[in-house]
Amino acid sequence: MTELALIIDFGSQYTQLIARRVREMQVYCEIVPADLTAEQIAAKNPAAIILSGGPESVFAPNAPQLDEGLWELNVPTLGICYGLQLLTQHFGGKVEPGKLREYGAARVHQDQEHALLENTADASQVWMSHGDHVAEPPSGFQVILRSKNGLIAAIAHPEKSVMGLQFHPEVSHTEEGQTYLNNFLFKIAGFKGDWTPTHFIEQTIDSVRKIVGKERVLLGLSGGVDSSVLAFLLHEAIGEQLLPIFIDNGLLRLHEARQVLDQFEHSNIKIKYHDYSGEFLQAVKGITDPEQKRKIIGRVFIEAFESAAKKYGAAAFLAQGTLYPDVIESGSVIGKSHTIKSHHNVGGLPERLNMTVLEPFRELFKDEVRAVGRALGVPENIIGRHPFPGPGLAVRCLGDITPEKLEVIRQSDHIFIQTLREFGWYDKVWQAFTVLLPVQTVGVMGDQRTFENVVALRSVDSMDGMTANWSRIPAELLAEAAEKIVNHVVGVNRVVYDITSKPPATIEWE
Ligand code: XMP
Repeated sequence: MTELALIIDFGSQYTQLIARRVREMQVYCEIVPADLTAEQIAAKNPAAIILSGGPESVFAPNAPQLDEGLWELNVPTLGICYGLQLLTQHFGGKVEPGKLREYGAARVHQDQEHALLENTADASQVWMSHGDHVAEPPSGFQVILRSKNGLIAAIAHPEKSVMGLQFHPEVSHTEEGQTYLNNFLFKIAGFKGDWTPTHFIEQTIDSVRKIVGKERVLLGLSGGVDSSVLAFLLHEAIGEQLLPIFIDNGLLRLHEARQVLDQFEHSNIKIKYHDYSGEFLQAVKGITDPEQKRKIIGRVFIEAFESAAKKYGAAAFLAQGTLYPDVIESGSVIGKSHTIKSHHNVGGLPERLNMTVLEPFRELFKDEVRAVGRALGVPENIIGRHPFPGPGLAVRCLGDITPEKLEVIRQSDHIFIQTLREFGWYDKVWQAFTVLLPVQTVGVMGDQRTFENVVALRSVDSMDGMTANWSRIPAELLAEAAEKIVNHVVGVNRVVYDITSKPPATIEWE
């Protein structure tokens, strides 16, 4: 049985970060919404519970509450910020509303010894972000940390394993943050910290075999990290029962289809390649609206996949490389989020084909999928590949899509990526590519006036694609890429570099 730490989410912007920190300590954790009942929580059998922070005041009329039955479960519990205030109220302490939200760094001093504080330096910096604060701890609880001006920064019960921090241990500005979390999980809750990629692989292979039995499993393979690692993992579990189908949508990068097939050549995995590029390009012809492009490509993908799959007979399961951030972003864990872009992978397929979905990576972050891939022996050139969107070059070709424009993107993208590789930067950035703008500008080549297209270079640094910074790549690299693109790609006379982060921009331009 995997040991589980449960993170109960009260809507903090840092909840995912708590999960990442816990996973970094090789402890498996899940984020669950605050309205779970104590019974539902007990059914998950957590060995520790972390109550996240949240944007609300505990005094707000609709402040999220906990099922009070949780406290009867006697599971070691750490409240962070809002979580601390909830537990203070529950055990009869006094929370005072703050007039203003307090953000920023503070120093904390140890008031009492406690396992939570082992191996931490005194007067270390912590990151505060709160409105309410604990004025009086509940009876039986001790104040273990105070801020410089005497305010309560942490409390704990000396016998019950219940404690809380006023600040955020999960953010890097809290100097001893990782040590507090480490102490809570290992010294207090008794975790072993054995949740490694190998552990995950063994468990997944086991459960996939049980679920699938002798049935066949279809997989939409794109050649990207997630679907490729999934193909290796499933092949290990069920061998030839796995049917990885690779649909060429005509929106791939230069020589990409060939490369993907080559990458699998030395494995025993037999990729079923199907070229539907004509159908896709016909369907998006003349379409300029980004959402419409995405929807059409999603629909044609389903049709193409269905017709390709028919050639192999019945299959009961459809495997997808859905990751944890997709699950969170789609709102199935926490509330509802706005649709920024209709992400297209194989959405809608399972209903249409009447198949059961297998999503072995639903609880993993991208770097964890990469670690699983390495443990499975997936070639490094697959693991290190930059993410590539399902709708492919269509969302990098602003305005209508033509074969000529796609060629400009393929050539310029290839040059940019090669230049990144030559400078040793490909592996340093999360994702890089070029975008063709529907804009012509004046230039001069030789003695001739030109009036040609603009290509934008985009390169970003990110942990999971949900937020991103534009990459600070060297000017010489940009200069070389720009020069080569203008000299070698017909129809381009200007190159620009995109210096917006996400948010407010997104990574792709459409
Ligand atoms: P955005 O543009 O939303 O992209 O900031 C975040 C990350 O997701 C990739 N992306 C997609 N991936 N299907 C995918 O599988 C899609 O429809 C899709 N759209 C964007 C994008 O390349 C970036 O890594």
